[in-house]
Amino acid sequence: MNRASVMKQIKTHLLMGTLVLGAAFSVSAQTPATPAAAAEPKAAAPEASKAGALGVQSANIFSIAPDANTDPKYADQNNGERDKVQPGNNAPMWRQVGAGVNGYTSLPASVAPEAGNLIQPFVQYPGSKLTTAGEAWRQVRNNWIIPYGGSLLLIVVLAIALFYYGKGTMKLHGAETGRKIERFTPLERAAHWTNAIAFVLLAVSGVVIAFGKYFILPVIGTTLFGYFTYFLKNVHNFAGPLFAVSLIIVFFTFIKDNWPSKEDITWMLKGGGMFSGHEVPSHRFNAGEKVVFWLGVLGLGVIVVASGLVLDMLIPGLIYERSTMQIANMIHGVATVLMMAMFLGHIYMGTIGMQGAYSAMRTGYVDETWAKEHHELWYNDIKAGKIPAQRSPEAVAHGGAASTSASA
Ligand code: HEM
Repeated sequence: MNRASVMKQIKTHLLMGTLVLGAAFSVSAQTPATPAAAAEPKAAAPEASKAGALGVQSANIFSIAPDANTDPKYADQNNGERDKVQPGNNAPMWRQVGAGVNGYTSLPASVAPEAGNLIQPFVQYPGSKLTTAGEAWRQVRNNWIIPYGGSLLLIVVLAIALFYYGKGTMKLHGAETGRKIERFTPLERAAHWTNAIAFVLLAVSGVVIAFGKYFILPVIGTTLFGYFTYFLKNVHNFAGPLFAVSLIIVFFTFIKDNWPSKEDITWMLKGGGMFSGHEVPSHRFNAGEKVVFWLGVLGLGVIVVASGLVLDMLIPGLIYERSTMQIANMIHGVATVLMMAMFLGHIYMGTIGMQGAYSAMRTGYVDETWAKEHHELWYNDIKAGKIPAQRSPEAVAHGGAASTSASA
């Protein structure tokens, strides 16, 4: 090797050494404290430098310590401990909030008992998963009450339509006599009509609140639907108390003639004779009407009114927390759907289903033929003088002829 080539080799090694050392320095200057930072995505660099220029340090919490969750105590870390390995990762805090932990707010507990609680604790309602109460309520309402309740109502409407299509209106078999029996006194009709009108207002507004977004919103759009539902919600709030009061009056007005009797068993066993065409004799109200009275008016009535008044925040002394409202809403939803299903049948029989029934509700009177064909035992008692044919002072004053044109 000559001198010139030796010098050339030395120069080359020096140059390489300088390059390697320079590279090493520059790498060590950029090397982060943790291996995690080495994985920092390059794309984040301009962002970081921009933020740094503004004095704000940003960091990707997934990059600070990507293997932090391999620590066996990872899941038990509090927010401070988590912050050390993954700054900005507030999962422990949010887990606590979601677990129903109470914090502090300046609202007095007497006014807002759960004001310090942001997210309700875990609960499992029938039909929901074990989850935070708000979500559990949402699951019960949206996965069960709305789809199954809506389906039940549609099935009942369809069944009534098919029944009407197949059977038509139940007509009187005999000719009318023109002699009238007072079926409902003015007080009974006033209570019944008030209750019926309030019921229809509540049912229509309630159906729009619960199901309207599926069949009205797509037609009229969000703005109109918003105003429409807001209006109906106020109708619902005002009709509710009216319904409650008239329901109590209806209950005490009609209880006397709704006590079960032994003839009700025969009526039930034969389904009222609805399919045989021979109506089973009954007293003033038949067993079907008595079921509506006890289960619908009393049973469901109490549940619907009580839950409705809770939703209206009208029950004094009750503490209105979110869970109170969620439970009241679920109970109200189920009971009102059952009530609507039951009363749809009742309304059908009182209007287009049976000739003469609606005019009894309108005028208070029925023809003797109607009484004999539909409530034979009641008719027999009237004929035997056990029950007066005219009960109200008005009807007595008119000698029962108050409305000889009252048949329909
Ligand atoms: C005393 C009687 C009643 C009161 C005080 C009452 C009150 C209420 C209240 C405050 C709501 C909540 C409305 C909202 O979301 O802002 C509601 C919902 C509802 N009500 Fe009533 N209500 C009563 C009777 C009825 C009756 C008789 C029916 C049916 C015939 C009915 C059907 C409904 C329905 C379907 C909902 C919607 C439930 C839902 O969206 O989950 N309510 N009611």
